[in-house]
Amino acid sequence: MSAVAVVTGASRGIGRAVARGLAERGYTTIATARRPSAAEATAAELAQHGDVRAEQLDVRDARSAARLANALDAAHGYVDVLVNNAGILYDTWQRPSSADLDQVAEALDVNLLGAWRTLEALMPLLRRSTRGRIVNVSSGAGSLAGMGSGTPAYGVSKAALNALTIKLAAELSPTGILVNAVCPGWVATDMGGPGGRPVEDGAASVLWAVDLPDDGPTGGFFRDGRRIPW
Ligand SMILES: NC(=O)c1ccc[n+]([C@@H]2O[C@H](COP(=O)([O-])OP(=O)(O)OC[C@H]3O[C@@H](n4cnc5c(N)ncnc54)[C@H](OP(=O)(O)O)[C@@H]3O)[C@@H](O)[C@H]2O)c1
Repeated sequence: MSAVAVVTGASRGIGRAVARGLAERGYTTIATARRPSAAEATAAELAQHGDVRAEQLDVRDARSAARLANALDAAHGYVDVLVNNAGILYDTWQRPSSADLDQVAEALDVNLLGAWRTLEALMPLLRRSTRGRIVNVSSGAGSLAGMGSGTPAYGVSKAALNALTIKLAAELSPTGILVNAVCPGWVATDMGGPGGRPVEDGAASVLWAVDLPDDGPTGGFFRDGRRIPW
């Protein structure tokens, strides 16, 4: 039986590159995207790299997450790896004293609650794994230690995702499921814009936390395999 890995936001950018890396490692890789056609396009494009299957998942929608969990339960009965990658709203145009709170709510809904909804829906399946890994794709912009006034919605949502990482890791520590937050670095994607590093490098930073041995760290914040400050 092959190990099963789920990636959110696999339609493009770092999520698609992570899906490719998982397929190359031999995982049955579930490439999810909010538009079914985008998930199917990713699966078709990555077919040459391994077993990649398309599933719809809008991380804002609890019913979508429940439907995914049911489909994976029927097809596999377990999930070994969850990469919470979907993310939005790098709000360089805002400052905290005047931020549009609808945009703040949107960022929290995808970047924090989206990861939370997905992991809650998949938790029964992850608990059946013998080597569970949950990787929350975070950002240095969520580091309280270096936080400035820029990107308030995004930064607060990623700081909250980091807090969730610590809490979940503490709860799951007896189960052997490793839960970590990872910053992919500045990556040249639609979100990162031109000038960042190649998408494969960002994906490698994320995949490091998938590849951890069973006695590897949990509840940490990493970039390129090195701890970074909360
Ligand atoms: N790029 C960077 O420099 C950088 C730096 C630090 C952290 N990160 C983090 O890395 C992750 C990936 O970023 P990226 O640079 O690859 O961004 P991207 O190219 O903008 O891709 C974002 C992905 O998230 C998906 N997504 C957005 N809302 C969604 C929803 N409601 N449900 C499901 N999927 C949704 C998008 O799907 P659609 O195609 O359907 O829109 C897309 O696949 C994010 O969490 C981001 O915060 C990126």
